[in-house]
Amino acid sequence: MPLNFHPVANIQDLPPGTCQSIELQDHGIALINLEGVIYALDNTCPHAGGPLGEGSVEGDFVECPWHGWKFDIKTGVCQKNPSPSWNVPRYEVQVVDGIIHVAPPTSEKRQ
Ligand code: FES
Repeated sequence: MPLNFHPVANIQDLPPGTCQSIELQDHGIALINLEGVIYALDNTCPHAGGPLGEGSVEGDFVECPWHGWKFDIKTGVCQKNPSPSWNVPRYEVQVVDGIIHVAPPTSEKRQ
């Protein structure tokens, strides 16, 4: 089944090395620009719910603004506790004509 991408932001508003929080179909998503490539992770830190999109980009990791846990931007794997229960979901991203598009979680399409 093809993914259903939605426009969420202008790439000019997300320079390399920055991140931001957006909402898509009631899901908080962290958009991250890592060296010109856009990634999307779930915005809710699994530690205590901090907004990852309001954190900072540190190398290949996004750092949660609340207690500093770091997550691999490309995979969502938690650096501190690299087990599936502490990872954050990744979402598919496309950039078309300067507009960032994100596909919402697959389970949302069933509702
Ligand atoms: S809420 Fe993210 S590190 Fe604590």
